[in-house]
Amino acid sequence: TVADLKGLKQGQLRLAVITTAKYFVPRLLGPFCQRYPGIDISLQVTNHSGILERLTDNLDDLYVMSQVPEHLDVVFQPFLDNPLVVLAPANHPLANEKNISLSRLAEEPFIMREPGSGTRKAVQKLFAAHEISVEVKLELGSNEAIKQAIAGGLGLSVLSRHTLTPDGASSELTVLDVEHFPIHRNWYVVYPNGKQLSVVARTYLEYLLDAAKQFATS
Ligand code: PGA
Repeated sequence: TVADLKGLKQGQLRLAVITTAKYFVPRLLGPFCQRYPGIDISLQVTNHSGILERLTDNLDDLYVMSQVPEHLDVVFQPFLDNPLVVLAPANHPLANEKNISLSRLAEEPFIMREPGSGTRKAVQKLFAAHEISVEVKLELGSNEAIKQAIAGGLGLSVLSRHTLTPDGASSELTVLDVEHFPIHRNWYVVYPNGKQLSVVARTYLEYLLDAAKQFATS
């Protein structure tokens, strides 16, 4: 019966997601919990290196990250794109320019995420590939704080487009049209190869993939 099936979906779901996915994954938990009221959830939000540590220690059921670790034996599945864009205050002189060069961008003061951040690594990789160095004016361990700092005129930064939620400083920011941007990345759902996923974790995984499909086409 349906009641028996519902009863099966009981227990704990442990998720760990990178900071940029925290705008997407928690939103989905509401409908999921309504459908399966017997499931309790713990959600850890941390940066790329924090996720790697948790994955290595096998602390959670499922992980959401943008860079699949090459040195770990994991199962992974991409489920949504995660473009990294250049953000500036809406009234910035470069706001209306087209195809801004990387070297022009590098003349601007820059705000960078903390070491251990996957966003930071992707940005540094792009600049290094083009042998361009930026002046890091400010280092900040939070996407929200970086958005506020950009709006406050402290500098430009590169963040996931998913951080541009309608709250906070987003309305005061604009995406610059810079060559080599956006940096194309994906979110992956990841778990250790050979790990026996619980019924609850498998149910959530299917739900996540399905919700992402709908989000991508909406
Ligand atoms: P971060 O996560 O918080 O480590 O920058 C984003 C990413 O890895 O894409």
